[in-house]
Amino acid sequence: MGDMTSTWSPGSWRDVETAQQPEWPDDAHLGSTLETLRALPPLVFAGEARRLKEAMTKVSRGEAFVLQAGDCAESFGDFSADGIRDKLKIILQMAVVLTYASGLPVVKIGRIAGQFAKPRSSASETLDDKVLPSFRGHAVNDAAFDEASRRADPDRLVRAYQQSASTLNLIRAFTKGGFADLNQVHMWNQEFVAESRQGRRYEAMAREIDRALRFMGACGVDLSADSSLHEVDLYTSHEALILGYEEALTRQDSLTGDWYDCSAHMLWIGDRTRQLQGGHVEFLSGVENPIACKIGPSATTADLLALCERLNPRNEPGRLAFITRMGSGSIEEALPPLVRAVRDSEIEVTWICDPMHGNTFSSSGGYKTRRFDDILGEIKGFFAVHQREGTVPGGVHLELTHHAVTECLGGSEEILDTHLSERYQALCDPRLNARQSVDLAFQVGEMLQG
Ligand code: TRP
Ligand code: MN
Repeated sequence: MGDMTSTWSPGSWRDVETAQQPEWPDDAHLGSTLETLRALPPLVFAGEARRLKEAMTKVSRGEAFVLQAGDCAESFGDFSADGIRDKLKIILQMAVVLTYASGLPVVKIGRIAGQFAKPRSSASETLDDKVLPSFRGHAVNDAAFDEASRRADPDRLVRAYQQSASTLNLIRAFTKGGFADLNQVHMWNQEFVAESRQGRRYEAMAREIDRALRFMGACGVDLSADSSLHEVDLYTSHEALILGYEEALTRQDSLTGDWYDCSAHMLWIGDRTRQLQGGHVEFLSGVENPIACKIGPSATTADLLALCERLNPRNEPGRLAFITRMGSGSIEEALPPLVRAVRDSEIEVTWICDPMHGNTFSSSGGYKTRRFDDILGEIKGFFAVHQREGTVPGGVHLELTHHAVTECLGGSEEILDTHLSERYQALCDPRLNARQSVDLAFQVGEMLQG
């Protein structure tokens, strides 16, 4: 594929067919907006993306574990310092449990600071005889069902950039400014354990973590002085969907001369846009970031091998992750042939489990939902397959929110079908709420220990 990469440029995707792009009504407006974005500072830096790639290399060898989590779609309407703090809090709480249970460093990656665009199964939506463009995420249009809201507006790309910049600013402040202190995060987990009947199941693990912390203190480790105990790295990621936006934020690193998509540390390609000859694969083939590709049940071993060849021709470890989303009922049949083909070709890939997207269905009341037990079941299947095949289960990819929503069924509060209507706020897919998320982390922790 040497000839392919040699003709790559940040705009070379424009020469091939590119799925899932909005119909922008005004080309001149789009053009001037992309010019504006091109002139704005990068959101992340090449050196940070390289650090994440190093961390992902460790993950691929089983020396670290990925927790990638956040909203299905971020919202322009739900944006506040408290909200970002609370989302970070959940991710940190989960990370502590997974770190303790796995005995490995946890690489924390948010679906955050850029997750504003959604692929849709249909370009338009019909309601009461009215046909309008589908909602494609706040970077493109608004969810309300009227003509003005659904019109694709390039100004939204700049707003997505600005909200990403503010979000990153807070993430950097919170992760380095004391909020991530290990003792404090552990205290939040102890509250979770004490507060709920189900939480008490995890008392033993919480007590062990407590004892480990006190042991370190007793040995003379100054838990408040060591920066590794109160600072974390939280990397950002989103689906690289709207390629005009991604292209405008792609910059040449002054140190290496390499191209990086500086809209996030990690970018992924969706299951709907992973066409080998399509624009998304073309675009991400040329940036040096760590990247991922979602893999659904329709993917063949030939697809995967060709994706590796195209997206990681140098077979560089840490470069490419496959995020599998098979469904809890299918994973044990669908995943093994793929894992074997990659393993037997000695291809460097990190395997991550997305237990959300293959387990979505409509409730009797018409709500798009997921069962907590199916989510857990797919993760269990993921570990089982990798154990049998002698490959590395690299991590989990989750959709969650800090809000006390009722979008997914089950979990420690036993959310039932009849509860879904109470606090269903999803802009797109149903998310785990705060308690379900921490609950899940403890259960995955138990799997990692077992
Ligand atoms: N710095 C370490 C890490 O990122 C340990 C750590 C400190 C930590 N605070 C944390 C881990 C909060 C998880 C959550 O892993
Ligand atoms: Mn989703």
